Amino acid sequence: MSYEVSKVSREENVDFSMPSPEFYKAIGEEEGMRKLMYDFYDIIYESDIANFFPQEEEEFEKIKEKNTKFFIQICGGPKVYEQDDKTIDLNEYMIRLHDDFSIYEKSRYEWLGCMEEALRKVDMEQRIKDDFWNYLERFSKLTVNTFSDGSVYYAEYNPGQ
Ligand code: HEM
Repeated sequence: MSYEVSKVSREENVDFSMPSPEFYKAIGEEEGMRKLMYDFYDIIYESDIANFFPQEEEEFEKIKEKNTKFFIQICGGPKVYEQDDKTIDLNEYMIRLHDDFSIYEKSRYEWLGCMEEALRKVDMEQRIKDDFWNYLERFSKLTVNTFSDGSVYYAEYNPGQ
């Protein structure tokens, strides 16, 4: 079954694999990725998590572009997101960037739902989409930091454990 989402548990040591370069090729490299990510953010803009993102068009545009570059890079394209500072671990950096926002499990579901909607419009072998989805489904668990009982917990990233 595609587009499944499992629950976040603080006890789980979240492991994930980076998306396969096959996805990057199938989506149509930089241009295709840009189209997917802009579509995704247009869906976000109409969603229940729109309030997390800048409402001002120019600022929102910057997020779209940064997000596009990040995904181009992590899917095996050119290193257009992280240019000079190669000392940072990109996964760790991305998790910590989300610490500035109070992200609930519910926000993660909504975020993944927007991505599902964007991906469903893409014509591509489902098994390649599934591989990309697996990365998103798992990595997104690490962005959840606020729980319904009001507690806050910043996930640790322990690669390879
Ligand atoms: C697989 C999971 C996710 C990935 C790979 C991801 C990736 C990104 C990237 C690349 C950026 C832009 C970084 C930059 O400014 O340089 C970003 C920003 C952001 N993401 Fe995520 N994200 C994920 C999940 C989520 C979830 C579940 C939420 C829930 C609401 C979320 C909310 C945000 C917010 C609020 C921003 C920043 C907007 C701002 O700077 O004003 N993200 N994310």
